[in-house]
Amino acid sequence: MKLRFHQCLFWLVLSCTVLVVSSLEDVLSQSNFDNFLDPLKDLFTLKDATGPQVKFSLRKPNQPDDDVCYIVPGKPESLSGCTFNSTSKTFLVIHGWTVSGLFESWVAKLVAALFDREQSANVIVVDWLSTAQNHYVIAAQNTKSVGQDIAHFIDWMEETTNIPLENLHLIGYSLGAHVAGFAGSHTSNKVGRITGLDPAGPDFEGVHAHRRLSPDDAHFVDVLHTFTRGSLGLSIGIQQPVGHVDIYPNGGAFQPGCNLRGALENIANFGILAMNDAVKCEHERSIHLFIDSLLNEQEAIKAYSCGSSEMFDRGMCLGCQKKRCNTIGYDVSKVRQARSVKMFTKTRASMPFRVYHYQLKIHFSSKVNQSEMDPSLTVSLHGTKGDAENLPLNVKEKIAANRTHSFLLVAEKDIGDLLMLKFRWEESTSWSASSLLRMVSSWWSGDSATPSIDVHKIRIRVGETQKKIVLCVKDPKAVNMAQEVTFVKCKDEWRSPSRRKNLQTHSHSS
Ligand SMILES: *[C@@H]1O[C@H](CO)[C@@H](O)[C@H](O)[C@H]1NC(C)=O
Ligand SMILES: *[C@@H]1O[C@H](CO)[C@@H](O)[C@H](O)[C@H]1NC(C)=O
Ligand SMILES: *[C@@H]1O[C@H](CO)[C@@H](O)[C@H](O)[C@H]1NC(C)=O
Repeated sequence: MKLRFHQCLFWLVLSCTVLVVSSLEDVLSQSNFDNFLDPLKDLFTLKDATGPQVKFSLRKPNQPDDDVCYIVPGKPESLSGCTFNSTSKTFLVIHGWTVSGLFESWVAKLVAALFDREQSANVIVVDWLSTAQNHYVIAAQNTKSVGQDIAHFIDWMEETTNIPLENLHLIGYSLGAHVAGFAGSHTSNKVGRITGLDPAGPDFEGVHAHRRLSPDDAHFVDVLHTFTRGSLGLSIGIQQPVGHVDIYPNGGAFQPGCNLRGALENIANFGILAMNDAVKCEHERSIHLFIDSLLNEQEAIKAYSCGSSEMFDRGMCLGCQKKRCNTIGYDVSKVRQARSVKMFTKTRASMPFRVYHYQLKIHFSSKVNQSEMDPSLTVSLHGTKGDAENLPLNVKEKIAANRTHSFLLVAEKDIGDLLMLKFRWEESTSWSASSLLRMVSSWWSGDSATPSIDVHKIRIRVGETQKKIVLCVKDPKAVNMAQEVTFVKCKDEWRSPSRRKNLQTHSHSS
């Protein structure tokens, strides 16, 4: 009973931190959360005093959700008994903290997806449920000893079967990612790869590399971060990069399709346990992105190296030169650099998650600075394979005169090669229709009475194809006062900056 109460209390902590307004985040630091947990640490002792019990279940392609055969370290006959194939790849799937003490439904889905891609693989589900079922703080403290148990298992397997550890891939979710890290750091020889799926944040954020998943734990460590929203210094998924490649889909927070607002309403109506679903949706998204990469190889998601999520949201990081982009999930390229690489991508709300990223670079020329321009704009793309209509364009900064602004546009479908682009502006509540119309239409025309802004061209880069295109106003004379402006392929192709400048001066004077 006591344990149950405190598990609820922990959910309360998580829930409250999500509810706290973001301005508080900056004020409160990591230490507040630690201080909060410290008294709790003394309240619990490990349920099972004999130490963590870890079991290794070799799953079968036709029964991905059943534990039918256990490999027992020290018993070589259990390997042949379970038909372990020492020439194929071996995966260790490692779960995280659990309230129920049961495997969550994603385990069978991930196992099935691994078999879908690698038919003859050995897929071993690591069962450390008895330890993971303790209070979070206790479970977190025990990730090291569970990892050591797994390391002993790996060493024994390597000795017994001579499998090359390069063929060993540990996949750990949440606390399981750190378990995988401890396992990797305690084996006699280095394992090939560890994938961390939204590694847990509380008790691991900011600690020394030896006490969490880190790039030292395997030849290659790749990490997906899907729930790194911090509140009260707490983030359920770890925010800092902890691998060779760290990917933050949708900025590592606010995953599309995970309705946090709806969940908050549920909490108001049904109590804090309803929180579980929203937290789980974003945290677990990391797993489903990985499953997607196994099942939908043809629709692999690209992620792009970028200094910050904000820069990425302005479309500034869609280049692939010098290995600046990578594939997310199973088919990631094993790039190992001294410093870990932060990468970003956008996704759809459901599988297949892949989207197409477009950078729009627009130069606004004007005689005077316009003030306070942030109308809501939508863009429609028309291509050789189809159309993507009414995509919202995020205008993240004020439009300044004589500057080139960069925007990110995301399309959920493949439209083929871009042929035509249409801008449309919407009435928004803060603007009267006519004033908006007058103001925005002045963007495109050079000759109205109001101080006008002039746009001749849009330069576009597509992340997924790495193609570059320049679009020009289709009919410059028809632009004024129109609620829609159409851009088509320019007659002249992509030009060097100097030539473009000459061309602009020329067209101004004409
Ligand atoms: C073991 O795996 C290899 C490929 O990794 C495959 O060719 C072979 O058929 C498998 N053996 C059995 C008994 O399934
Ligand atoms: C923008 O450049 C044009 C041409 O060089 C110049 O006439 C105009 O004054 C500039 N606008 C601002 C706001 O500086
Ligand atoms: C226009 O605005 C930009 C950005 O706010 C500023 O850097 C620039 O000096 C302004 N130009 C004029 C002519 O006011």
